[in-house]
Amino acid sequence: MKALILSGGKGTRLRPLTYTGAKQLVPVANKPILWYGIEGIVAAGITDIGIIISPETGAEVKAKTGEGDRFGAKITYILQEQPAGLAHAVKVAQPFLGDSPFIMYLGDNLIQDGLEQFLDKFTQQDLDALILLRSVKNPSAFGVAEVAEDGRIVRLIEKPQQPPSDLALVGVYFFSPVIHHAIANIQPSTRGELEITDAIQYLIDQQRQVQATQLLGWWLDTGKKDDLLAANQIILDSYVNPQIVGEIDAQSQVSGRVAIGEGSQLINCTVRGPVIIGQNCHLENCFIGPYSSIADKVTLIDTDIDHSVILQGARVVNIHQRIVDSVIGRNASLTVHPRRPKALRFMVGDDCQIELA
Ligand code: DAU
Repeated sequence: MKALILSGGKGTRLRPLTYTGAKQLVPVANKPILWYGIEGIVAAGITDIGIIISPETGAEVKAKTGEGDRFGAKITYILQEQPAGLAHAVKVAQPFLGDSPFIMYLGDNLIQDGLEQFLDKFTQQDLDALILLRSVKNPSAFGVAEVAEDGRIVRLIEKPQQPPSDLALVGVYFFSPVIHHAIANIQPSTRGELEITDAIQYLIDQQRQVQATQLLGWWLDTGKKDDLLAANQIILDSYVNPQIVGEIDAQSQVSGRVAIGEGSQLINCTVRGPVIIGQNCHLENCFIGPYSSIADKVTLIDTDIDHSVILQGARVVNIHQRIVDSVIGRNASLTVHPRRPKALRFMVGDDCQIELA
């Protein structure tokens, strides 16, 4: 059994963060989203992992993630020249996959459930495809399954305007090598992509063994800001290891589950967990509220932050109003001058959103 993680694509929905970086490397609780997928796959006993990368962000994904040693896996990077669809990515990966069955995992998805139970079902029942479904509020944003009363899948449709059910396809799939034959027999969709949904539909039409299982735990498709904040909250709730390595002065108060990395310094700050603060950060006169993740080398001075994600190298100074539900990109700088400002002065990149609420 092998695994194929898709970490290419355009990442348009997380812009502006993904103008300069891969969306699969955006951190959730200070760890790239992609790494949760790799860890889940290795925990299920699969160590031969291919990762699809794009020409734009491939080098960054490779440099950050490495050859697999840190996960106890062997990682092979596979370049997909164009984001021509999920099934196209499988086609490009065919030399790596050979005739092995495999898990296909979308690099921006996070699921709570372990993969072992699904892998067991897939192998024991000798299936050609096992898909995971989850009830969602906005099925039109996903691939959707029409399921008969006996649990049989009748039809799969990609992003339907009139969804036949609220059951979305989760970005984790199990395939036998027959999927390559299906992919060779489908055409690009109206959005110009070779859709994996159509390839699975082909298997269904050919009466192959395709089954679906409903996911009961949480599932996050971290493609948008609110999903990213939700993922950050859930992960901080479940996984933060309270560990304070950095320095905290006598005026600071830290309560709840809080992790503070090496080289970080807190002066006169109040931190209420769950919170994670990376390495080499400088925090002075700040309140850091629950569900905040602060990446490495961040500077926060005279600032209140709650339920937010601050990426590496960002600097937030003198913002006396509380910053909530926010994502602040790498090396971004937010400052209010110490004298009461008479005007607001911005240098805002394309697709940024600023809300003075
Ligand atoms: O998240 C679940 C959904 O993922 C499913 O419900 C849909 O059926 C499925 O088509 C997919 O839809 P998205 O529109 O959300 O896929 P997206 O374009 O965001 O790509 C998912 C991941 O795959 C992302 O990490 C980028 C990567 N990718 C995408 C394309 C199109 C590639 O590596 N290569 C590609 O060509």
